[in-house]
Amino acid sequence: MNIIIEQTKEDASQKAYEIFCEAIENGAKVFGLATGSTPEMLYDKIIASDLDFSNAISVNLDEYVGLAGTHPHSYQYYMKDKLFKHKPFKECYVPNGLNDEATEVARYDQILEEHPIDLQLLGIGQNGHIAFNEPGTSFDSLTHKIKLTESTIQVNKRFFVNEDEMPHYAYSMGLASIMKAKKIILLAFGEEKAQAIKDLATVETADEAIPASILINHPDATIIVDAAAASLIK
Ligand code: PGA
Repeated sequence: MNIIIEQTKEDASQKAYEIFCEAIENGAKVFGLATGSTPEMLYDKIIASDLDFSNAISVNLDEYVGLAGTHPHSYQYYMKDKLFKHKPFKECYVPNGLNDEATEVARYDQILEEHPIDLQLLGIGQNGHIAFNEPGTSFDSLTHKIKLTESTIQVNKRFFVNEDEMPHYAYSMGLASIMKAKKIILLAFGEEKAQAIKDLATVETADEAIPASILINHPDATIIVDAAAASLIK
């Protein structure tokens, strides 16, 4: 696992953008994509570029259970709004929050089986989660339904106009599925991520209490942080 510290979020997003460009030059066709505030600047750079994704496939990390893809707070809506409507992909997969658990888990695992991920983009939660794999999630997990922790609910409800509408369950790609990606980039910005980055940077053995720590066992994982997120590891 390689850690790159950039001064600003802008510099860190530029670095991530360069890794995207390099992966595309090397033939990457399937991109594991993430939502949240962290990837927005990277998506803006992709939109402003002449990179062509018309033959590419995207497979997203997670979705809130109970939200239709047309709901403005769903991750499917986020992806259309922040990326796909500006930069078309050939096929875009996001878990379907309206499907029952058995159907969705089987459907999404099949999609992942058919489309091995070349480049996986990740954010990190303040509690060390990646996708919605909350602390304690098995490192062997595939797609699953997960109850969001109180910490994640408190952090993410800022996105909801009516905070009580924030779902308490999500469908998430599992940690074993994330580890199958050929290459992984994790982005983290701001001092609120500093503790999670310290935990990740200093852990000696991957520990299910810190989901992101599984990345220390990945052969090609790069963590790109701004100075604020790196403030506890300097
Ligand atoms: P954020 O979320 O990008 O909105 O900080 C990241 C995450 O929770 O994984």
